[in-house]
Amino acid sequence: MDKLKITGYGDDLTINGIRIGDLTPKDHEDIEINKGGQNYKPLENVVVSHVKNSSVLVCRKPSKDNIKEYIEEELVDGLCCYSAVNQGQLNEEIVDAVVHHLKNEKLPTVPRSIRHKYMAAFLMAATEITQMDKVVPKVAGVESWELTFKLCRRWGYKIKKIPTGKAIVVGATGNFHGRSISAVSMSDDPDARKDFGPFLPGIELVKYNNINALEELFEKKGELIAAYSVEPIQGEAGVIVPDEDYWPRVSALCKKHNILLAMDEVQTGFGRTGENFAHQLFGVKPDIMGCGKAAGGGILPVSFVAGRKDVINTLTPGSEGSTFGGYPLASVVGTYAIKVLVDSNLSKNAKVRGAQLMSHYEEIMSDFPDKIRDVRGKGLLTAFEMFDSSRLDGHKVSVELLKRGVYAKETHKTTVRIAPALTIDAHNIDNIAENIRDVIKSL
Ligand SMILES: Cc1ncc(COP(=O)(O)O)c(C=O)c1O
Repeated sequence: MDKLKITGYGDDLTINGIRIGDLTPKDHEDIEINKGGQNYKPLENVVVSHVKNSSVLVCRKPSKDNIKEYIEEELVDGLCCYSAVNQGQLNEEIVDAVVHHLKNEKLPTVPRSIRHKYMAAFLMAATEITQMDKVVPKVAGVESWELTFKLCRRWGYKIKKIPTGKAIVVGATGNFHGRSISAVSMSDDPDARKDFGPFLPGIELVKYNNINALEELFEKKGELIAAYSVEPIQGEAGVIVPDEDYWPRVSALCKKHNILLAMDEVQTGFGRTGENFAHQLFGVKPDIMGCGKAAGGGILPVSFVAGRKDVINTLTPGSEGSTFGGYPLASVVGTYAIKVLVDSNLSKNAKVRGAQLMSHYEEIMSDFPDKIRDVRGKGLLTAFEMFDSSRLDGHKVSVELLKRGVYAKETHKTTVRIAPALTIDAHNIDNIAENIRDVIKSL
């Protein structure tokens, strides 16, 4: 092998003589197919290049005249990296904090086996914003769920005194908690599970938003159940918002049976639904919860578990850990992600702009009652669902939106989720809605 040579930045980033800025969308696709694993099916004929502003991306599409050339176009970001960029792309305050700490404060990279001074800042900010006793940092969203799961089991054995090896963690149908083996063990999505078994034992599913089913299960097996682990609003399932009284009744049932209410706020947290955390919409408080995505301000993967003292205190040295969980840069970014959430009042903007988007959806639904079946959401976690017909395919809608300069992606065959940055302005909300109307009309 010749010596590998890597030089340059941005478009000039060059690998063995191949300059990234010279690659067409087709070249990118070929490299991804030939050299990458096919875990995603990206939208075709488009490559994101850079950021124009907090809600707008600049992308490259094939030139109409010559496939070997590309043109640049703007894309309103209606997906926001699956709600990881609530604070807006390249949030200036967070970027400044990163650059300042790396350049001026000589930020070290050390693991948690030695104390660093930024951990204290992150723990104070994270416990305050979550109103929880304790916080444990992790990296990816799925890891926060994974640790929540482990803590539920541990609490079940140590505190609830469930016989060893018998603990049950209850999940909800249609759940999505990530891609680890325990997360797919809880999943009921055949695509996520196929050929990955055998799966983790000690998991039972109950129908989401069905209080009677939960009550029946708790009555039958409550002594062995450590936790109900669940999303307050199901994101990947298509933005499923439970009945108003569901969470208060779940919370009461959990208390009655001494079962932890463990919420996955990875997608719904950090202002997305119009409150800092979605459970606040329903007037309940989980005993433990996982956060991720926007916890890293759209800059770094940062996640954490926040919870009650008696649950988190079941951790002992050696029983958990993560090299990059809470390392200095993650602690700075996590602290600033929280600072921006609070100082910019992101949850309030999510509520206001979410209401604006929802009223557009309702008009579109009333104008096309044969095409749109349901519109739903809280804050800026929104979706519209179409009737199931070959004409109204969600993927087709995403492609048509892309042609009109809006980036969105179907969550299911008939459902398209729109979840832009919480910094988005009224003009861009109108722009997204007009394009949705245009696409629906054309189908
Ligand atoms: C509710 C929920 N939990 C967990 C995850 C997994 O997060 P990550 O992809 O960062 O591991 C996701 C991702 O979409 C999610 O929506």
